[in-house]
Amino acid sequence: MVSKIFSLLQFFTLFTITFAFTEEATALLKWKATFKNQNNSLLVSWKPSSDACNGWYGVSCINGRVNRLNITNASIGNLTNLIYLDLSMNQISGTIPPEIGSLARLQTLHIFDNHLNGSIPEEIGYLRSLTELALSTNSLNGSIPASLGNLNNLSYLFPNENHLSGCIPAEMGKLVNLVEAYLEKNQLTGHIPPEIGDLTNAKVFYAFSNELFGPIPAEIGKMKSLQNLSLHTNNLSGLIPKTIGNLTKLKLLYLHANQLFGPIPSELGKLKKLNHLLLFDNQLSDPIPSELGDLKKLNDLVLYNNQLSGHIPYELGNLKKLNDLVLYDNQFSGPIPSELGNLKNLNYLELSNNQHNGPIPSSFGNLRNLQILVLHENNLIEEIPSSICNLTSLTVLYLSRSILKGKILQCLGNISGLQNVMMSHNNLSGELPSSICNLNHCKFLIWVETI
Ligand SMILES: *[C@@H]1O[C@H](CO)[C@@H](O)[C@H](O)[C@H]1NC(C)=O
Ligand SMILES: *[C@@H]1O[C@H](CO)[C@@H](O)[C@H](O)[C@H]1NC(C)=O
Ligand SMILES: *[C@@H]1O[C@H](CO)[C@@H](O)[C@H](O)[C@H]1NC(C)=O
Ligand SMILES: *[C@@H]1O[C@H](CO)[C@@H](O)[C@H](O)[C@H]1NC(C)=O
Ligand SMILES: *[C@@H]1O[C@H](CO)[C@@H](O)[C@H](O)[C@H]1NC(C)=O
Ligand SMILES: *[C@@H]1O[C@H](CO)[C@@H](O)[C@H](O)[C@H]1NC(C)=O
Ligand SMILES: *[C@@H]1O[C@H](CO)[C@@H](O)[C@H](O)[C@H]1NC(C)=O
Ligand SMILES: *[C@@H]1O[C@H](CO)[C@@H](O)[C@H](O)[C@H]1NC(C)=O
Ligand SMILES: *[C@@H]1O[C@H](CO)[C@@H](O)[C@H](O)[C@H]1NC(C)=O
Ligand SMILES: *[C@@H]1O[C@H](CO)[C@@H](O)[C@H](O)[C@H]1NC(C)=O
Ligand SMILES: *[C@@H]1O[C@H](CO)[C@@H](O)[C@H](O)[C@H]1NC(C)=O
Ligand SMILES: *[C@@H]1O[C@H](CO)[C@@H](O)[C@H](O)[C@H]1NC(C)=O
Repeated sequence: MVSKIFSLLQFFTLFTITFAFTEEATALLKWKATFKNQNNSLLVSWKPSSDACNGWYGVSCINGRVNRLNITNASIGNLTNLIYLDLSMNQISGTIPPEIGSLARLQTLHIFDNHLNGSIPEEIGYLRSLTELALSTNSLNGSIPASLGNLNNLSYLFPNENHLSGCIPAEMGKLVNLVEAYLEKNQLTGHIPPEIGDLTNAKVFYAFSNELFGPIPAEIGKMKSLQNLSLHTNNLSGLIPKTIGNLTKLKLLYLHANQLFGPIPSELGKLKKLNHLLLFDNQLSDPIPSELGDLKKLNDLVLYNNQLSGHIPYELGNLKKLNDLVLYDNQFSGPIPSELGNLKNLNYLELSNNQHNGPIPSSFGNLRNLQILVLHENNLIEEIPSSICNLTSLTVLYLSRSILKGKILQCLGNISGLQNVMMSHNNLSGELPSSICNLNHCKFLIWVETI
């Protein structure tokens, strides 16, 4: 095996394997220990308790520190039987040589977390036995080669966190055995090809933080094994396809920070396993469909900075697992539904910058886990309900810029963890309770005169 690994390194003639200053003989011995054949004639010089700088094959030192490891052409023999190669996390620089295509039996190729640059050679498409290809966290550029589509057995694909550009090749749709695809944090552009819908075994598809544009293809609804779908932080536009409602195994749907518009499809209410729904920073409009109240497993519903309107459906009060409900910077109107007081697990509720009228529901006193309550810039009326004082977990309470009236609640002084309070620009009267913020918890307390 070792001769095969060495032969591979022969292919990698463009690589200069330079260990970090602190990496020493132990690192080399650790690496050697992973080789199947410890008796390779060249490696017998690599012995514990000996000086790596003094006679170890292929090792060069500067000032007693290993600085260069050159095992180029150290051995002969072809690599055609190599099935596993992992050179990850070694600060390897250089390019992936096209000769990689000769490793016809290779099933696993991991070269993540190195300093590789240049492009992914199209010869990678000859590695027909490959099941895992991990190239993440390098500086690879150029496009994802279409030949990748030939890798019928590929299950795990990690070209993420490089500088890859160009389109997602339509040929990726041929990877019917793909289970997890991570394309995120590159500079991929163009449309998401509809062929992606053929990845019916994919559980994870991540393409966030790229430069993708155009619509999300309706065919995405055919990826029936999908659990995690993340396309956020791109330039995708158009409607959220209704067919996403067919992805009934979905747990995570991140489409935020795009240019999506139109309504949130009511079909999303079919995603009964959904834990995380993030659609913020788009241009979505119309009311929230009441069907979202069927997402009983939802932990996060984050829809801020859209153009959503109408009443918040009272059905959201059924989302008993919800931790975060974040709906600020929209055009919601009407009263805040008192049913939201049923969300016993809520930590964070923000409805600011909408057009809610009506009172703050007294049912909010039931939100015993609430830490952050932000309702400022609405048209909320009447008195602040005294039940708010039951929210003993509260740290942030922002109620400014509405038309609240009455006396400032003295019982707020009993919420010992309260750190930030804003109530200005209302019709409130009275004094700040003397006990408020008396426990050195206060970082920031603004109590502007009432208007
Ligand atoms: C390696 O050498 C040791 C001792 O010299 C021997 O016992 C062992 O069988 C050898 N292993 C192989 C794979 O040749
Ligand atoms: C690496 O080793 C080969 C073969 O011994 C030699 O030809 C080459 O010059 C060496 N490269 C460097 C950068 O030292
Ligand atoms: C590579 O190794 C072979 C066999 O040991 C030798 O004939 C050849 O000259 C070597 N090439 C280089 C560039 O060192
Ligand atoms: C090694 O590879 C070369 C070129 O790919 C080929 O011509 C040669 O037959 C191979 N040798 C063996 C022993 O497989
Ligand atoms: C790879 O990076 C090195 C060092 O920055 C540079 O000299 C070389 O031109 C780069 N090669 C490619 C193909 O990008
Ligand atoms: C692909 O996987 C199947 C099932 O494990 C296996 O029988 C087949 O030989 C593999 N194909 C290649 C080219 O390795
Ligand atoms: C990759 O980067 C290198 C070095 O910056 C550059 O010369 C080359 O043109 C780039 N290739 C592509 C396909 O962008
Ligand atoms: C899917 O996302 C969830 C939530 O972030 C995470 O816990 C899980 O590990 C992800 N699944 C896979 C296969 O990455
Ligand atoms: C995103 O799309 C908009 C309109 O479709 C366009 O004006 C903008 O330049 C695009 N931004 C990027 C970073 O591609
Ligand atoms: C997928 O969703 C669309 C639109 O909601 C629907 O018409 C279609 O019947 C669904 N297909 C399957 C296989 O469930
Ligand atoms: C607040 O808590 C007290 C004591 O725990 C309870 O008696 C009261 O009914 C609660 N009020 C509201 C409005 O939840
Ligand atoms: C604050 O707490 C004290 C002691 O627990 C209690 O007696 C008092 O009624 C509380 N004040 C208000 C306004 O709830």
